[in-house]
Amino acid sequence: MRSIFYGFIISILVAVVSSFPNGSGTCNSIQATIEGVANSPMGKLNTALNYGFNLNLKNNNYIPGGSAILTLNGTQPYNGILLYALDSQKNHVGAWTVTKGFKILNMSCAGDPEGTITHDSANPKPAGTQLTWTAPKTDVGPVTFVGTVVVNAATGFQIVKSQSFSVAGSNFTGPPASTNTAVNPQPTGGSAAPNPTSNPSIPTSDASSLMGGSLLLAKLGLVAAL
Ligand SMILES: *[C@@H]1O[C@H](CO)[C@@H](O)[C@H](O)[C@H]1NC(C)=O
Ligand SMILES: *[C@@H]1O[C@H](CO)[C@@H](O)[C@H](O)[C@H]1NC(C)=O
Ligand SMILES: *[C@@H]1O[C@H](CO)[C@@H](O)[C@H](O)[C@H]1NC(C)=O
Ligand SMILES: *[C@@H]1O[C@H](CO)[C@@H](O)[C@H](O)[C@H]1NC(C)=O
Repeated sequence: MRSIFYGFIISILVAVVSSFPNGSGTCNSIQATIEGVANSPMGKLNTALNYGFNLNLKNNNYIPGGSAILTLNGTQPYNGILLYALDSQKNHVGAWTVTKGFKILNMSCAGDPEGTITHDSANPKPAGTQLTWTAPKTDVGPVTFVGTVVVNAATGFQIVKSQSFSVAGSNFTGPPASTNTAVNPQPTGGSAAPNPTSNPSIPTSDASSLMGGSLLLAKLGLVAAL
């Protein structure tokens, strides 16, 4: 007697993850890049959001090697963040102290290896987050804190910039001319992916996502009765 398949059911479960996996997929806060991700997991730029970066730096000065606390103020929880201190050469400078819910963005962003921090989970985080930044050991000139705060796909995101901070009595005159060509290696040729060689199998739209892009889960179920 032979087995007969009465039939089978194919079910396709398509889960478009519209929220917030494991951190930013891009190094820089560029509106077009963030809005351009397939399925718009970060939504659109929302100019009505009122987040701000505030730092406890007296007289707007940072001390080389010293630490500062950045407070993200705002009126509502957020799900995702990308944050860095940007110098005039567009390097992400200094180092962030990782706390629960956050991680260093490991995407070879221009600048210091621990200079870019992001969320590590999908959980909503209340506004008022405080993160500790340690300044570079040397005077690197003026720095501005820049980032993207994502509420969710429906509400959208804000690109946040702080005022500028510098070293008191700075004698900074810019980086040596000989290093200019080595600074801030950005991909060219139109790819929005900040680090296109790190995983060539990931489509550009996912690789450039602040939230890690959309994830398509397809499940094929085969039910056989004998
Ligand atoms: C990314 O996040 C998802 C859901 O939050 C989790 O299941 C997965 O393990 C995470 N992946 C990594 C590499 O952390
Ligand atoms: C957050 O801080 C920024 C900059 O100091 C300020 O402009 C903004 O009004 C503040 N937002 C809230 C909700 O307090
Ligand atoms: C950073 O990414 C590289 C390459 O994907 C990996 O080998 C390394 O373990 C990662 N480092 C951290 C701290 O996650
Ligand atoms: C800048 O140069 C002046 C004169 O050499 C020196 O007194 C001052 O300490 C320098 N400032 C800094 C922040 O190094």
